[in-house]
Amino acid sequence: MDIAVIGTGYVGLVTGACLAEVGNRVTCIDIDEEKVATLKQGISPIYEAGLEELLRENISRSRLDFTTDYEEGLAGKDIVYIAVGTPQNDDGSADLTAVEAVCRSLSRHLTQDVIIVTKSTVPVGTNEYIKALIEENLEGDVTINIASNPEFLRQGSAVHDTFNGDRIVIGADSPEVLDVLETVNAGFNLPIVRTNLRSAEMIKYASNAFLATKISFINEMANLSERIGANIDDVSRGMGMDRRIGEAFLNAGIGYGGSCFPKDTRAIISVAQEASYDMQILENVVDSNERQRGIIVDKVMDRFQSIKGKKVAVLGLAFKPNTDDVREAPSISVIEKLLDEGAEVHTFDPAAMENARKVLPEGVHYTDSIEAAVKNAEIAIILTEWKEIKEFPIEKYESLMENPVVFDGRNCFTLAEVEKTGVEYHSIGRPS
Ligand code: UGA
Repeated sequence: MDIAVIGTGYVGLVTGACLAEVGNRVTCIDIDEEKVATLKQGISPIYEAGLEELLRENISRSRLDFTTDYEEGLAGKDIVYIAVGTPQNDDGSADLTAVEAVCRSLSRHLTQDVIIVTKSTVPVGTNEYIKALIEENLEGDVTINIASNPEFLRQGSAVHDTFNGDRIVIGADSPEVLDVLETVNAGFNLPIVRTNLRSAEMIKYASNAFLATKISFINEMANLSERIGANIDDVSRGMGMDRRIGEAFLNAGIGYGGSCFPKDTRAIISVAQEASYDMQILENVVDSNERQRGIIVDKVMDRFQSIKGKKVAVLGLAFKPNTDDVREAPSISVIEKLLDEGAEVHTFDPAAMENARKVLPEGVHYTDSIEAAVKNAEIAIILTEWKEIKEFPIEKYESLMENPVVFDGRNCFTLAEVEKTGVEYHSIGRPS
């Protein structure tokens, strides 16, 4: 098939490269000239494991190319994927500005019949709106079919997830369109869920909302466990062995972040409000996650009462390991609170320092190693479970700090390892 993918963020780029890898001819369109120039050389502007290899291989086989020119990118294409961002409006609803701009460009440039496939996460009903918007301004005599094909990719392992996902969801209101998309996706060898447009849109939101709920649920169980003498590690393990529950996403911590869960939970609440339905469970999940982000500083304040003038090491700024993304990262509000309390904050992150500098307040010290951040600190706080942070021996905190007090927001160490040291250790959902 001849395919165009519009938007080269992590979803669009991974989608384009993987569709080329399974034998389609793909052109990725993006309005960012600098990005397109870099991509043409096989250089990825984002870090995704395995992506650059896929880009280079498929560019060299002439199955993948990039352009800023819609006319050139759309020429002869059977299918056009929309994979631009849908950030959050102030009221929590999804901002469709980029999707609408794409629709206007499509109306101007489409000259042949196509299937438009929406990858972007959009509120239920948006696909019908996209179709209407393109048709309203169409200049040529062409037929538009529309389909929804939501993505379930985790940032950092998006290529792996594309080939090893649990399912592919395709939604369309016509069996013929579903058949075409089934053929396009056949190369991935994954179970395919065929459904209508609105159900496909809903599956995406419901899946992210469920995972966010699972995290908030285990966080609440952790908060209770530490008050009643239970250990959340054992509670999670014991619960997760029940196959109906499953062990994934039962790691207690300081709350979920990133560009998906916070945005999508709020968006589905907003969709529910529009449908005059009070989505109580997700309102509680959002509030619970907000509270969870604050608990590490609460623990610090309970222990120290005042941290004015104290050196505090903050380890990990990214919203999760293996990414440089700090969007909605718990580190932002934690560091703001520490600064408000008068602490002297020294941070380290293996990848996210550059992005963190753009969003963190003035006055934060950025260091080039865990050692440098922790040296002579009175308090160390772990916020992201990077491999290097987990593997940094707990004994080293003892040698680097005079009276080592470590607050671990991601339970990187077992209580047994810590007990052998003189470190005062506070974690999530476990006895101190
Ligand atoms: C998430 C979903 O996992 C993907 O399926 C989905 O496609 C994607 O959103 C999206 O909508 O685009 P992502 O945001 O990249 O992917 O990251 P996750 O690995 O799911 O982690 C999200 C957050 O949950 C992180 O802050 C992580 O620290 C937190 N988390 C995850 C926990 O606190 N505990 C856990 O047990 C698991």
